[in-house]
Order: sequence, then C-alpha cells, then structure tokens
Amino acid sequence: MAAKTIIQELKKHHDEMRDLVKEIKKNKPEKFILLKKHLDIHHELEEDLLLAQLNTKKDIKDESLESQEEHFVLNILLLDLKDFPKDHDRWMVKFKVFDEILDHHLTEEEEDLFPDAEEKLDKKLLEDLGKQFAELKKQRLSAAMETKDEKK
Ligand SMILES: [Fe+2]
Ligand SMILES: [Fe+2]
Repeated sequence: MAAKTIIQELKKHHDEMRDLVKEIKKNKPEKFILLKKHLDIHHELEEDLLLAQLNTKKDIKDESLESQEEHFVLNILLLDLKDFPKDHDRWMVKFKVFDEILDHHLTEEEEDLFPDAEEKLDKKLLEDLGKQFAELKKQRLSAAMETKDEKK
C-alpha cells in the first residue's frame, strides 16, 4: 500500500472532526472537549509540519499565513466555548457560529491550500511528512486522552 501524504492525512483528520461536529450539534455538547483536543493537535501539527514548509515559498506564503491566522481565531473561539457553561442556551448558538468559521477554514484548505501545496512540494517530502503526522497525531491524542478535561 502506498504511503499516505500529509495532505491525505490532514483531509482524513478534517473528516473525523466534521463527524464530531455533527454529533455535538445533535445536542451532545459533552463531546466538545474531545473535538478541542483534536483541533489543538491538528493546528499544531499542521503548522509545524506543513505550514512551516509553505511559509518559506514565495507563491503560497500568503495563503499559508492566512491558514495560520484562522487557527489563531479558531483557538480563541475554542477557549470561549470551553469556559462558557454548556447548559446555557447560548452555548449551542456560539458553537454554530464557531462551526461556520471552522467549516470555511477546512474547505478553504482543502480547495485552495492543499492543491497548491501538492504542486509546490515534492511527493517524497509529502509522504515523509504524512508519516510524521500520523505518528505524532496518535501519540499526542493518546497523551491528551489521559489529561483530565478540567485541566485542558
Ligand atoms: Fe487548518
Ligand atoms: Fe487543517
């Protein structure tokens, strides 16, 4: 079986997170902490492994920095959602607004940034980064699951 590229790994992770968002919207706010763990890890690894490469490439730099800025905004909203009482009516309203921004972000990466990254970076590098992403994601998720939710 051919090795997966980091782009394939990131897309797979996007879909896992979309599934979690759907569950939360079906009135399961208790799943939010799990989504936050996934997104925190996703942002870190996407930035360290992929965006760090793209930030140095002339034609794609702005797009890559835009993705990074969107992570910054999403992270602020994640903290607000974490601290806001989940049993309050406004929590789900806030979550839906967050989801609109998240959905825009994931779609933009998939439709614009990732195809450009596939063009700019060579296949071997994309595969090496894919392997690193899969390993680090697994390690960090299992470490995050052991952390008490209150401390996250
Ligand atoms: Fe992202
Ligand atoms: Fe992403």
